[in-house]
Amino acid sequence: MKPRLLAAYCGVGGCTRGYQLAGFHVAGVDIADQPRYCGDTFIRGDAIDYIKAHGHKYHLIHAGPPCQHDCTLTAGTNAGKFTYPDLMADTRAALESTGRPYVIENPPGRAAKKMRVDLTLCGEQFDLAVIRHRNFELGGWAAPQPAHRKHRGRVAGMRHGQWYEGPYFAVYGDGGGKGSVADWQRAMGIDWTDIRKEIAEAIPPAYSQWLGEQFLARPEAVAA
Ligand SMILES: C[S@@+](CC[C@H](N)C(=O)[O-])C[C@H]1O[C@@H](n2cnc3c(N)ncnc32)[C@H](O)[C@@H]1O
Repeated sequence: MKPRLLAAYCGVGGCTRGYQLAGFHVAGVDIADQPRYCGDTFIRGDAIDYIKAHGHKYHLIHAGPPCQHDCTLTAGTNAGKFTYPDLMADTRAALESTGRPYVIENPPGRAAKKMRVDLTLCGEQFDLAVIRHRNFELGGWAAPQPAHRKHRGRVAGMRHGQWYEGPYFAVYGDGGGKGSVADWQRAMGIDWTDIRKEIAEAIPPAYSQWLGEQFLARPEAVAA
């Protein structure tokens, strides 16, 4: 039987697909319907409530609480225009209440101050055409930090009225020059949705495949 992973705040399933490729059976929970979710089971509901009630049934729990509270969209001139709840502390408390190993994932930025950053992954480490740094806090287990590879160039696109060439796509927003949907799908390794917003909210499956493989390589992982 496959080890079971709970993907909390699963979205369309960026991290889910990676854990599936690593060998997990993946159940996802999200507050919104996710008709294109790629996991094995989908539960519509509040992630924190679900983790508290059912998290103990899984071998590993991955939680990527929405980052809008902390990301640059809510900083600077955008500050105060959006209000999103900060779910980080309650999510960690719920994860710890299960007694199971967990992964918390968020982008760098203000969120990083609320996490213990055990690892940072970058698309270049996986030969992807995105940079997309993501921080990970690992609870109850550990994995080595892979060496960061020097970026091969810039993110292509228009910034402050100037066009920049580069080997990476900007997989966010909908401004001009950000690449086609097919470019985004290839860059991220996501081929089961063609909705830009869903691709933009995901993490590249290569990140969670690597994490899942590290987790399963530990002899105690599935015996637990
Ligand atoms: C950035 S996306 C996560 C993407 C996902 N980690 C991946 O790998 O593709 C955040 C998701 O959290 C969901 N969400 C927001 N609040 C939630 C809550 N209280 N409970 C469950 N899901 C929630 C949103 O609907 C959205 O799909």
